[in-house]
Amino acid sequence: MGTFTPSFEGDIAFVTGASGGMGRAIAIAFARAGAKVVLSDVNDAGGEETVALANSAAAGSATPGGEAVYVRADVSDGPQVAAGPAWGCLWLANRRCNQGRPNL
Ligand SMILES: NC(=O)c1ccc[n+]([C@@H]2O[C@H](COP(=O)([O-])OP(=O)(O)OC[C@H]3O[C@@H](n4cnc5c(N)ncnc54)[C@H](O)[C@@H]3O)[C@@H](O)[C@H]2O)c1
Repeated sequence: MGTFTPSFEGDIAFVTGASGGMGRAIAIAFARAGAKVVLSDVNDAGGEETVALANSAAAGSATPGGEAVYVRADVSDGPQVAAGPAWGCLWLANRRCNQGRPNL
């Protein structure tokens, strides 16, 4: 059986809670699959680490277009999240830091 490799080339992904855990893994996977990833968190050091990992994964990928930037955004503060995406048009969204609260 072949391996399915999704392509998100040309798409923009916004991943919250991306400084670690599942959010980091998702951000890296999107970048590897060609998406421009706006990743956010409140942990700036972890966010920049995820950017480095995502850009490295994109550079080593057969799918072109992958790229990542970090934007600090607290998901409990609506205006901060609204100001987050930097490439203007959002196609994919992931939220990974709801801390058990359904409204985040
Ligand atoms: N790991 C699992 O197996 C699993 C399974 C089901 C559900 N979940 C849920 O999914 C979510 C993520 O899980 P994880 O294991 O990746 O957690 P994690 O703790 O590794 O990562 C959560 C990230 O969210 C960030 N964060 C916390 N508060 C924030 C805020 N107010 N604004 C922005 N970013 C914030 C943290 O800095 C961290 O980088 C959690 O809500 C968890 O309960 C996890």
